[in-house]
Amino acid sequence: TRADLTLHPSFAVGPVDRRLFGGFVEHLGRHIYDGIHEPGHPTAGPDGFRRDVVELVKELGVTTIRYPGGNFVSGHRWEDGVGPVGQRPRRLDLAWHSTETNLVGLHEFQQWLDLVGSELMLAVNLGTRGLQEAVDLIEYTNVPSGTTRSDQRRANGREAPFGVTMWCLGNEMDGPWQVGHRSAEEYGRLASRVAKAMRLVDTGVRLVVCGSSNRDMPTFGTWERTVLEHTYDDVDYISCHAYYQEHDGDLASFLASGADMDAFIRAVVATADHVQAVRRSAKRIDISFDEWNVWYYTRWNAQEGTFAIDDWPVAPRLLEDVYTVADAVTVGGLLITLLNHADRVTSASLAQLVNVIAPIMTEPGGPAWRQTTFFPFSLTSKAAGGTALAVGIDTGTVATARYGEVPAVAAAATVDDHGTVRLFLQNRDTTGPATVTVDLTSFPARSSVAATGIWDDDPYAANTLAEPERVAPRANDTAAISGNVVTITLPPVSWTALTVA
Ligand code: AHR
Repeated sequence: TRADLTLHPSFAVGPVDRRLFGGFVEHLGRHIYDGIHEPGHPTAGPDGFRRDVVELVKELGVTTIRYPGGNFVSGHRWEDGVGPVGQRPRRLDLAWHSTETNLVGLHEFQQWLDLVGSELMLAVNLGTRGLQEAVDLIEYTNVPSGTTRSDQRRANGREAPFGVTMWCLGNEMDGPWQVGHRSAEEYGRLASRVAKAMRLVDTGVRLVVCGSSNRDMPTFGTWERTVLEHTYDDVDYISCHAYYQEHDGDLASFLASGADMDAFIRAVVATADHVQAVRRSAKRIDISFDEWNVWYYTRWNAQEGTFAIDDWPVAPRLLEDVYTVADAVTVGGLLITLLNHADRVTSASLAQLVNVIAPIMTEPGGPAWRQTTFFPFSLTSKAAGGTALAVGIDTGTVATARYGEVPAVAAAATVDDHGTVRLFLQNRDTTGPATVTVDLTSFPARSSVAATGIWDDDPYAANTLAEPERVAPRANDTAAISGNVVTITLPPVSWTALTVA
């Protein structure tokens, strides 16, 4: 395969919002307990948070972190997680059939966020709860003092408000599995009322209304339209969620997941813009792609519904997918798609962060390590900045069973304030390398090039407790610059970050 790329500084997609590199922490399985929080672990501080995990999260480079769910939030009482830890209730977590101890709640999670240097994005419960609880919560988090909820926060040890800007109005309310699931009409009306009331508390908030749980939902498209018809003036974003997995050994389709995500984003943008047109509105709705990842969800679906009435474990091992090189290459491809829509996707959350479909794994009492998917995320978060550029690309195609013919090479590019050009490249060809040339005539006087990426003779190689460093980024020494042309050879099934300075 070959691919000829052209970049021009005038052909910008838009600024890259740092919130594009967000994460997601849900009370689910061993994410919080025996994940980020493990009192007694050799690296844990007096707060119980593992410092080895903190260091890995910092290295990963996640910006905003969505919390506390996910499906969990639709049955969650936020008050359970504040106040003296010893007095907090143990509750049924209906979403994941677990016991929630509430040992970590809002204050503790914010302390952890302060350690990792990330911003809090909060979801309110619109499943079992509604407007009043959402208003109580934002009063608690954002009002400085002098009211019952704000003074309660101060009494609980936090004088300054949390100052939460990003808010999700529920989670996946279109999903029949969601506790308190609603029709688009019901949800749209509720979300509009809740959004208006939250803005009456704090005019500075940014609100995300729920889009579809995925593009295969039977209501996809009409859900977005109906919900936005009710909430267009009240919200800033509509959410997208997408999880991909390799089905039945169909690696070619799996590697092309970014092409599916691209179609998904285009469809939601079109739907939002349709509602805008009908309303003659000057306002634009952006996308918060606040759950995306590789997830072998069919394995989880097979377990569902098999729980006993007395089986409510604390922090069970759930959704602990072990990721391969192919998974990492796919995650890299999804990041390429997000960057190529930086004008409309201005917030996104890798789902999730630790132990649960996560780039970081931990063993109780033992080590923490990076999964393969850690690397494309950390490298992209670190490198991509400034402005996303449209990439002119002339490449061959690969045939996929799910998505038809897709470009063999996917690419995204950014240029930062120093004029450093970054390219993110995915070779979806499973059979051979891709020879790439990049025409940088419009970016003269560049002289250095460096490339690092993920590939392996075994696309199913993974990092595990037994072999935590089996897969790591590798330098691609084929990268070269001559005049204004960069060349590089991409191995089959690979993802690469290229820097031209
Ligand atoms: O990330 C796992 C789950 O996937 C989330 O709780 C839910 O929102 C989605 O269905």
